Amino acid sequence: MEDGFIIGESQIIKDILNTAKQVAPTDATVLIQGDSGTGKELLAKFIQANSNRKDKKFISINCAAIPSPLLENELFGHKKGSYTDAKEDYIGKFGFANGGTVFLDEIGEMDLALQAKILRVVQFKEYEQIGNPQPLRTDVRLISATNKNLLELVKLKKFREDLYYRLNVIPLFLPPLKERGTDIEIIANYFLETYSTKYKKQIKGFSKEAINFFYVYEWKGNVRELENVIERAVVITKDQYITKKDILTEENKLQKQTRNLEIKSLKDAINDFKRNYLIESLNQCDWNQTQTARKLQIERTYLAKLIKDLKIEKI
Ligand SMILES: Nc1ncnc2c1ncn2[C@@H]1O[C@H](COP(=O)(O)OP(=O)(O)OP(=O)(O)O)[C@@H](O)[C@H]1O
Ligand SMILES: [Mg+2]
Repeated sequence: MEDGFIIGESQIIKDILNTAKQVAPTDATVLIQGDSGTGKELLAKFIQANSNRKDKKFISINCAAIPSPLLENELFGHKKGSYTDAKEDYIGKFGFANGGTVFLDEIGEMDLALQAKILRVVQFKEYEQIGNPQPLRTDVRLISATNKNLLELVKLKKFREDLYYRLNVIPLFLPPLKERGTDIEIIANYFLETYSTKYKKQIKGFSKEAINFFYVYEWKGNVRELENVIERAVVITKDQYITKKDILTEENKLQKQTRNLEIKSLKDAINDFKRNYLIESLNQCDWNQTQTARKLQIERTYLAKLIKDLKIEKI
């Protein structure tokens, strides 16, 4: 995939991309929040690609994947001989990215001592390499991402409040795939094209049933899960159209079954169905009630009443 290429036509994604384009050319720090697989890294790359630093380095670091002492070493580098294994000078990501952009993924996992060092980079553009008391200077634009609620971590004293406000100058929230209406079909078609080309298969599209499945399935792993499901379907399908059985994996079958287990009163079950169906329909119409009511073939006032009675809220 091309860097900075984000698919979606829902209002919610358009708004995010507009804000992202607007802030990209500034050096403002950006905090991207969203569940796993919603496209946080892709959005960070989009911002970099639209910034004045687009020809400079984009360095991405996953703070959750590296234990703390190693992370400090990765970020800030070391002087030769500063510890047993330090056989050479190492400039570190912040030195390496000088002039460019650093993407700190899963920033919520960073420990407090390192957070203090990041704060120093943001405030004073300086840091210390391990084993070198002389502060070094670096000019980087910081973009961070998290799937945690950072404010909650601040309250629990696991995240520095001052750093939180420094990182969160521009907050961007990526919604779950389920809340992006028909984007799900647009993205699915995009992956279908990509993977049909990759695997040299002639596939014309999805069956109606397959498309319906896209709308009822949970997509807990969001766009990443959709991408995996479609890649797999393209590989295994023998038809010209991807059908529901091509996209049903053991995993998503299981999700459906466990959801069906609990037996409740028919009235509650019908209300649950109504609620979910209305939320999905509203999502598909970007919460435009007039359009939704027309598609459902009910009066707009009746839809408004249902929304109220069933306590439906746009999340
Ligand atoms: N709107 C989109 N259009 C096209 N591809 C997308 C979109 N959003 C995400 N993707 C693709 O989905 C995959 C997951 O995206 P990405 O790695 O940016 O998500 P993430 O939020 O960083 O996930 P994680 O929390 O798992 O790190 C990538 O292959 C990315 O290219
Ligand atoms: Mg990521």
